[in-house]
Amino acid sequence: MRNDSSSAHRRADAYPDLDHVYAQCSGPGGLRLAEHMADAMGLRAGATLVDVGANRGLQTCFLAKEYGVNALALDPWDDREDGRPMVDHIVDNARAWGVSDRVLALRAGVPDTRLATGSFSFAYSTTALEMIRAMEGGAGYQAALGEIHRILQPGGVFGLGEPMHREVAIPDDLRPYVTRGEFSWAECFSDLTTTVAQVTAAGFEIVHAEYAAEATAWWDEFARHDPFAKADPDGDPATLRVDAGRWTSFGIVIARKPHASPA
Ligand SMILES: C[S@@+](CC[C@H](N)C(=O)[O-])C[C@H]1O[C@@H](n2cnc3c(N)ncnc32)[C@H](O)[C@@H]1O
Repeated sequence: MRNDSSSAHRRADAYPDLDHVYAQCSGPGGLRLAEHMADAMGLRAGATLVDVGANRGLQTCFLAKEYGVNALALDPWDDREDGRPMVDHIVDNARAWGVSDRVLALRAGVPDTRLATGSFSFAYSTTALEMIRAMEGGAGYQAALGEIHRILQPGGVFGLGEPMHREVAIPDDLRPYVTRGEFSWAECFSDLTTTVAQVTAAGFEIVHAEYAAEATAWWDEFARHDPFAKADPDGDPATLRVDAGRWTSFGIVIARKPHASPA
């Protein structure tokens, strides 16, 4: 029996309509991931949090409602389904969740946030920065981490949740699946050791790093409930089926910005 609150999902279980959750989130884990991360980060009511790559902001609203944080949700893109700016969806979701007073939305991304240095006590990012790795390479990913470090207060906590691959080579039969399409998983996904090194290089101290024990369950939920996955069973669901948990995983890194940077 599990006895840690993060894997019991007491708060995420209050939102059981997974088709809705996955229509408003983008990536594995939905609100279960948000709860797991929030507990690992030690979120506290009244704290300021920036959600980097918030998409439609459902996780942001969940963190504001269930943990009482004051959140700024950043997202630079338009929605691929209806073409509306993501920030418009964030505003709508904040209203629907009754957290308009605690969730702000800003059309911006890392590294060009233009936010003041040391603005937040927490930074949170799920299933977003790996796309920067594919678009901008390792240097772009490092610049994104550097910006998150800059906008956090000294002592502030960064929670990073990312689709990652296990520390093994891509199985030959899986390669055609993970190298196909725009933002292929092979281009986007890194491993935990590499990611920890990059977070450390950005100036953070690592508090905790793990391959989530529930990664397979989160990906399975994604395959069954994400609208794009449901519409294309030969896409991501086929990749996950062929993989059967050999390569694809989900990594979590919790890190702190030190109070005093080394000279
Ligand atoms: C796959 S979605 C995940 C969103 C959300 N965290 C979730 O789990 O539901 C990734 C988001 O990252 C955003 N994004 C793209 N480039 C970005 C950047 N440079 N900085 C921040 N977010 C970015 C995209 O607009 C997209 O909404």
